[in-house]
Amino acid sequence: MVMRKRLVVLTGAGISAESGIRTFRDMGGLWEDYDVMEVASIDGWKKNPQLVLEFYNQRRRQLETVHPNIAHKLLAEAEKDFNVYVVTQNVDNLHERAGSSNVLHLHGELTKARPAGCPSKVIDIGYKDINWGDTLDGFQLRPHIVWFGEEVPMLNEAVKLVQTAEIFAVIGTSLNVYPAAGLLDYAPKGCPIYVVDPNEINLWRRDVTVIKEKASVGVPKMLEMIKHA
Ligand code: APR
Repeated sequence: MVMRKRLVVLTGAGISAESGIRTFRDMGGLWEDYDVMEVASIDGWKKNPQLVLEFYNQRRRQLETVHPNIAHKLLAEAEKDFNVYVVTQNVDNLHERAGSSNVLHLHGELTKARPAGCPSKVIDIGYKDINWGDTLDGFQLRPHIVWFGEEVPMLNEAVKLVQTAEIFAVIGTSLNVYPAAGLLDYAPKGCPIYVVDPNEINLWRRDVTVIKEKASVGVPKMLEMIKHA
């Protein structure tokens, strides 16, 4: 029996760009015309929760209208040849909709909500809006999103996955936001590391193969390379 290798993939906004979801840092600090810190930080939520709810309601409505692209689909298909673990910074569900079985969301999920005072009570809301005044257990519902200024509860699990990678790939992330960016440091020495991104990104490890392409071109290239490695 052939043992399948563990392929761990860290994805960011860039993998969903070709599905029509805009990335963050390409926008000069604006995210879909909003100031990121106003809509994606715990301080923003405290200052103007209605604005934050509306922002994520828009993102959720948009998500319903977009589709996984070839890069999401190829990573799902790669499960035929590898044990694939996706660690994503994205809050969309495009990896799951493409068919990936193991997806860890570091920064939360748009289709989930939780009461503001009760972090462990996560509920599925699909593509429905969250409105001001919607409560659970007496607390206002908020998006199940990790905002700037908040802990990243799934980090330890993600570190463990990366530490056990036999191949590690980084796709469509500027590696600007910590602690997610620090996952690159946990890929074991000697484990082949691939980076797919059409732009120059800040890389501090030298043992990296850079494929300077957008995901739809770079992901098939990378998969060909690792299949024949
Ligand atoms: N294919 C692959 N990569 C692409 C594509 C594409 N078609 N288009 C753009 N990119 C790249 C950009 O060059 C950039 O390096 O995707 C990366 C997107 O980087 P960011 O916008 O910084 O997104 P990301 O790294 O996912 O952000 C991390 O920041 O705002 C927070 O919590 C939010 O999860 C997010 C985190």
